[in-house]
Amino acid sequence: MTASSGGGPATLDRTGALSLLARCDELATYSTLPGGLISRVYLTEEHRAVNALAAEWMIEAGMRTWQDAAGNQCGRLEGRTPGLPALLLGSHLDTVPSAGRYDGILGVLIAIAAVDRIHASGIDLPFALEVVAFGDEEGTRFGRALLGSRALAGTSDPAWLDLVDEHGVTLRDAYTAFGLDPSLLGAAARQPRELVGYLEAHIEQGPYLEEAGHALGIVSSIAGARRFAITVNGHAGHSGTPFDRRHDALAGAAEIVMLIERTARDAGLIATVGHLDVFPNAVNVIPGRVELSLDLRAESDADRDRVWQQISTDMTSICESRGLTVETRQTHNAPAVACSPRLRDAIAAGIASTGNIEPMLLLSRAGHDGMAVADVTDIAMLFIRCRGGVSHHPDEHVLAADVAAATDAFEAAVLALVAATPELADGPAAPSAPVAATSAPATPGTEA
Ligand code: GLV
Ligand code: MN
Ligand code: MN
Repeated sequence: MTASSGGGPATLDRTGALSLLARCDELATYSTLPGGLISRVYLTEEHRAVNALAAEWMIEAGMRTWQDAAGNQCGRLEGRTPGLPALLLGSHLDTVPSAGRYDGILGVLIAIAAVDRIHASGIDLPFALEVVAFGDEEGTRFGRALLGSRALAGTSDPAWLDLVDEHGVTLRDAYTAFGLDPSLLGAAARQPRELVGYLEAHIEQGPYLEEAGHALGIVSSIAGARRFAITVNGHAGHSGTPFDRRHDALAGAAEIVMLIERTARDAGLIATVGHLDVFPNAVNVIPGRVELSLDLRAESDADRDRVWQQISTDMTSICESRGLTVETRQTHNAPAVACSPRLRDAIAAGIASTGNIEPMLLLSRAGHDGMAVADVTDIAMLFIRCRGGVSHHPDEHVLAADVAAATDAFEAAVLALVAATPELADGPAAPSAPVAATSAPATPGTEA
């Protein structure tokens, strides 16, 4: 929010809130949807373009950049000696369909701004800083979330290469078209010994900070999520068929949707049916098949799994009573993740530096890249108030003052870790030969 002294009164400080918000606006123009709506998914031209922009900003901030083997855009500022383990800072640049412009994106920009400031201050760093702009957190294109962050954690399943998008393109072919070699995906994996931890700033995507009048909060843990593809099979037929002769898959699916809501609500956890396809989807044909999605989340994996068992049993009963059958396939399973006390303390110190010494502790019901990164290193998150708790919607909104506070707090959190860290031994830290998208057209996202 401050004007830079060097660039004249009209030039905004590039790490200030107004610059970060302008960058969010710029990234929002890379979309496959018309009319100002945002949709940007993994391994597309839009992904390539935002990686290139992020790389430019990383370079300005003093980082060396590369695109890893999974298409994540990375940047690194060395510590006091080259090759030290790195503190990862990041979030994602992909979106859901008809998205807002801050989910994930703001966290990447805050991370770059924090490194920019620390680089400019010339402070002696006992570890390296790396920013990662993950290419896939949402799972919009291939139906499997966290593809970017799982690759970094080394937990990608080779079977996922056979996943297909809505046009029948496999993940394998999408990597190739993006200029990446799917057989080298493992090169994106980082080892625990290379890492100091992972910090992520993210909009809250919930109403609690706003309700309490806080700009910033600390995440205690991230809810575990499971997702299922559910298929209800009946018999298609003429809409003149009497009710007692019907096996209407949509009527069964409607009962299942209500069952899911009731069961999750009674158990105090969250469930969403967000996608539904009806076949053959004609006004005068009884639906013969319905495909629906289920996204189920809870603070405790045991509660979530118990509720799924209950839904599964009751769904089968509903279908039996209607002469239908039901099949389910799990498409995502991410256990709940607790944030590390050591890194949470750093986030608390960061928030305290902005004047709030009793920050709120919040459960994240939204999923985040940190869930995957937690398999290789400790994680913690800073939450930023968003208007009305609205997210995954074009109305997503943050206040410039909150972005300014978040950037200050995030920088201070990193500096708190710097202050608390003794000299680290040199380790095999940065990928010694970062994977650049050399087969793609040269962009600032390649090694610089
Ligand atoms: C991602 O935003 C998710 O929570 O699914
Ligand atoms: Mn999201
Ligand atoms: Mn997100």
